Amino acid sequence: MKKETQIRYEYFRNSSELNDIEKKLFEKAKEAREKAYAPYSNFLVGCSVLLENGEIYSGNNQENAAYPSGLCAERTALFWIAANFPEAKIEKIFVVGGPREFHEKNPPIPPCGACRQSLMEYETKQQENIGLYFSSMNEEVVKVHAIKDLLPFYFDATFL
Ligand code: THU
Repeated sequence: MKKETQIRYEYFRNSSELNDIEKKLFEKAKEAREKAYAPYSNFLVGCSVLLENGEIYSGNNQENAAYPSGLCAERTALFWIAANFPEAKIEKIFVVGGPREFHEKNPPIPPCGACRQSLMEYETKQQENIGLYFSSMNEEVVKVHAIKDLLPFYFDATFL
């Protein structure tokens, strides 16, 4: 038996199509990207996270000479938020990434598989969807309404 799954997403040709809070998150993610520590890949990623109470936090990728010891921007932000505000609900996360020498043809950067899995953990825990936006620096933006949209057949605690 063949089955299919589809994902819904929104595409914004330009960030001017975003609403005010989305624009703010985009700016905050770009600011965070500038502070990324990525001397090995020279691929800079920043993200901003909007909590239910309206507060915004951010993170960026942190690399290491022992390469696997580094961490992506999304998990840097998520783990800090979860460590400091364990009860906080996450509404939105905006990710902006691209090479240090940015070229306007660089496409929007989706979160890696490990970050999707980590994001999924918190989406499951809070029982409310997390809106995810991703972009390069060229102003194109992709939005999914839930992390599960980016991670069909996700693994969670129900399997344990
Ligand atoms: N990176 C992120 O920060 N987030 C992602 O979702 C994809 C990749 C970082 C990890 C590494 O520092 C650099 O980008 C190149 O892979």
